[in-house]
Amino acid sequence: MINYEELFSDNIKSMKRSVIRELLKLTQKDGIISFAGGLPSAESFPVSELKEITNEVYEKYGEKALQYGSTEGLPMLLSELIKLMKDSEKITLKEENISITIASQQGLDLVGKIFLNPSDICIVESPTYVGAISAFNSYRGNMVSVELDDEGIKTDILDSTIQKLKRENKKPKFIYVIPDFHNPAGVTMSLKRRKELVEIASKEKIMIVEDSPYRMIRYRGNNIPSILSLDKENLVIALFTFSKIFAPGFRLGWAVGPKEIIDKFIVAKQATDLCTSTFNQYIAALFLNKGLLKKTVERTIKIYKEKNELMLENLEKYMPKNKGVKWTKPDGGLFLWVSLPEKYDSDKMFQKAIEKNVAYVVGSAFYANGEKKNSFRVNFSYPSKDEIVEGVKRLAKVIDEFVK
Ligand SMILES: Cc1ncc(COP(=O)(O)O)c(C=O)c1O
Repeated sequence: MINYEELFSDNIKSMKRSVIRELLKLTQKDGIISFAGGLPSAESFPVSELKEITNEVYEKYGEKALQYGSTEGLPMLLSELIKLMKDSEKITLKEENISITIASQQGLDLVGKIFLNPSDICIVESPTYVGAISAFNSYRGNMVSVELDDEGIKTDILDSTIQKLKRENKKPKFIYVIPDFHNPAGVTMSLKRRKELVEIASKEKIMIVEDSPYRMIRYRGNNIPSILSLDKENLVIALFTFSKIFAPGFRLGWAVGPKEIIDKFIVAKQATDLCTSTFNQYIAALFLNKGLLKKTVERTIKIYKEKNELMLENLEKYMPKNKGVKWTKPDGGLFLWVSLPEKYDSDKMFQKAIEKNVAYVVGSAFYANGEKKNSFRVNFSYPSKDEIVEGVKRLAKVIDEFVK
């Protein structure tokens, strides 16, 4: 018998199955109301528009659309994205500043691939996106966590963390942040913090990775400039995706950054998959060209705003009072973050929630260094309105019994 274990690389041995995927299996039990997934609402998908565009792609571009494409991406889509970034972010890009990716998760993998040797340091927020933890772990990066609050990453702690590392002769390669409608925390980084972050990165010569899949899904308040648009020194790699504004099944996104970095992205991507689906890129290019993105985003915002308000209203109504339960009130995106008093462990409460037929994602999944366990993530984009009301009632009961 061959011993497979002897064959596996150190990298794959250091990788674990996603906690979320394992938990999602439990949440598929009959009768469960799941706030655990991170799925967009299927009502937001532009199905009929895509049907027409798909036919048009076959008619106009048939053979080309079925062929391999360049690793950089389809020129037609690149030029649509240059227009989109000009309109939405007020930045002027050239094709050399963009790499089409298989959505943001590939962007995160490529960031890990081009920057991290085993043990290299990168700074992540605490909590942070579980998929980023997996991506950076797969290159055996050393993630140093910096707390966030309602205004995003705490820049004073970020600075003192970098100074402490400096005294140990260590320097992070990059700082990874999710500034808009954070997954999982639901908070948005203030303009002040964004400026301070850019200042620190510039002073210390550290790259910033800005991951912003929810940026266009704002349903309250004013837009805050992206970190990318605040940076004047080519310090930012920004990851964008069509997953939450179009359809995640397309697996399409784009990374923006300095030419030198995008060059390395392309080299790394070439070794991974040669190119992103040409067919999907044609569809996305036509979708943008016809101005359909705006319409789809508007429809999505309307759906999520209603669901967000319904969830907040019901949390207010049913959550036990005087037990120290708090939750964030996001101005956009798909998630909010519920916190119990520090000594309570949301991992331990999970089993009780499943017994009462309601599910969430345990907070520990979102900490690179297992810092905390008292919070958990709740999604409101996917469940129906009836499920939101009934699910919050069940959750409130679980918490009431668990928090003494
Ligand atoms: C912060 C963040 N980054 C990246 C991703 C990956 O998304 P995708 O690969 O679908 O673009 C997600 C998905 O939920 C996310 O929340």
